[in-house]
Amino acid sequence: MQHAVNPWVAFAYLVAGVCFILALRGLSSPTTSQRGNRFGMIGMAIAVVTTLVTHVPTITVLVEGADYAALLSAIDTVAVFEIVAAIALGAAIGLTTARRIAMTAMPQLVAAFHSLVGLAAVLVAAAAYLNPVAFGIALPLLTPDGAVALINPVSRVEMGLGVAIGAITFSGSVIAFLKLNGNMGGKPILLPARHVINLGVLAASVALVGYFTLDQSPWVFWTITILSFAIGFLLIVPIGGADMPVVVSMLNSYSGWAAAAMGFTLHNSAMIITGALVGSSGAILSYIMCRAMNRSFISVIAGGFGAEASAGGAGGTKTDRPWKRGSAEDAAFLMSQAEQVIIVPGYGMAVAQAQHVLREMGDKLKAQGVRVKYAIHPVAGRMPGHMNVLLAEANVPYDEVFELEDINSEFAQTDVAFVIGANDVTNPAAKTDKTSPIYGMPVLDVEKAKTVLFVKRSMGGLGYAGVDNDVFYRDNTMMLLADAKKMVEDIVKALD
Ligand code: TAP
Repeated sequence: MQHAVNPWVAFAYLVAGVCFILALRGLSSPTTSQRGNRFGMIGMAIAVVTTLVTHVPTITVLVEGADYAALLSAIDTVAVFEIVAAIALGAAIGLTTARRIAMTAMPQLVAAFHSLVGLAAVLVAAAAYLNPVAFGIALPLLTPDGAVALINPVSRVEMGLGVAIGAITFSGSVIAFLKLNGNMGGKPILLPARHVINLGVLAASVALVGYFTLDQSPWVFWTITILSFAIGFLLIVPIGGADMPVVVSMLNSYSGWAAAAMGFTLHNSAMIITGALVGSSGAILSYIMCRAMNRSFISVIAGGFGAEASAGGAGGTKTDRPWKRGSAEDAAFLMSQAEQVIIVPGYGMAVAQAQHVLREMGDKLKAQGVRVKYAIHPVAGRMPGHMNVLLAEANVPYDEVFELEDINSEFAQTDVAFVIGANDVTNPAAKTDKTSPIYGMPVLDVEKAKTVLFVKRSMGGLGYAGVDNDVFYRDNTMMLLADAKKMVEDIVKALD
């Protein structure tokens, strides 16, 4: 069998691939991210249009003695309308969702989208398995009983891998969605002997993908699919709330590899390039986030290895220790007297949409001669870069924004740490309490500042990991209990 690929199609896919690489490059910095997005859109438009225009067999199946071409064009002609209708429907749903979604619900939306990529890979693999002739992956032979065409063994490996990674991505992303959306508790669910179960199921699926090259019986294909759905579930269920950011980027990576594997089955180089880019960039991001969270990459991708230490974390229980409450006027006075104020934004700032008035507060303090800096924790908020995006939207100058490792040593020489809607990323338990679910994660050392001003709505609201924060009860902390935006508005008034 041989595949003839139109050189113009190959060229168009190559251009799309270059656009995707430029998109990734652009997205690496806030200043170039819009240009990066534009490249991404252009690349995707080229890929979609090329596929649509040329999908009437760009890959011609040349099988001696068989007139598959006629059959293929008949199928394809019928499918054009359906494809365009499906794209229109998908685009309408995507556009509506993108317009309506709250910034804070982004992680669960991303998890939901990953699940769709996984499901699409499973469905494409199933379609190719059930109709190998239409996908150009059949050998010019029938099975011994003469019922179905034999599938090319190389394609069977690609298909087996595609359906396996796709199914893992699907079920894993559904669990991640349920956890992030609050439909399932964030605590790790640890099955007894789960490492043995995980390894057993994984080994069985790998063996079956190998066996699939020898025997293409339906039971082999569907068992790979079912086992892989189980792996996705088993891998994500034991991962606790604090590690969810890594999981989301890991599933992002899996979805890319699933798409790349299906690109091989469909002989579509654009899908292979895009899938590999998503797969590798997701893997790099997961690795970077693991380093930022002080987690072992292998532990996280192996499904909560090491979660034992934190599973019983006692941090969830709140204590009834005394604490000090302050007002907007107190905060304004303390900050206006300071030489340096470090602002630590977190998820609560995003919920309250307080970034614009926060910048206004920063401007007023600067006008009064106070040095203002912003400290960004790598997992503050609910998605990578969440705080950077919000601060950029509010036009906070980039040179006032510092990453954790660049600013952490400055808290000890700072007069005021102004923590706004952040909790886990400032919790010293991560440094000292081995039973805490966030133990080991580097945190911002806000407690070392002369005064900590802590904005949140109530003493009862714990952060994402559900653990109490010792900083609330320290002598140098003043709690500013209110909605973040309202509190900062009042501080701005008081500064006037
Ligand atoms: P959190 O630990 O979740 O704390 C948020 C704080 O904001 C809470 O103390 C909450 O207390 C307060 N808050 C909520 N709404 C508020 C409002 N309208 N006004 C004022 N305060 C408000 O946030 P964080 O410190 O940014 O830490 C992020 C956590 O999310 C980490 O555990 C991280 O692992 C996890 N996570 C991160 C990501 C990524 S990639 N960034 C993805 C998923 C999960 P009240 O309810 O009392 O107001």
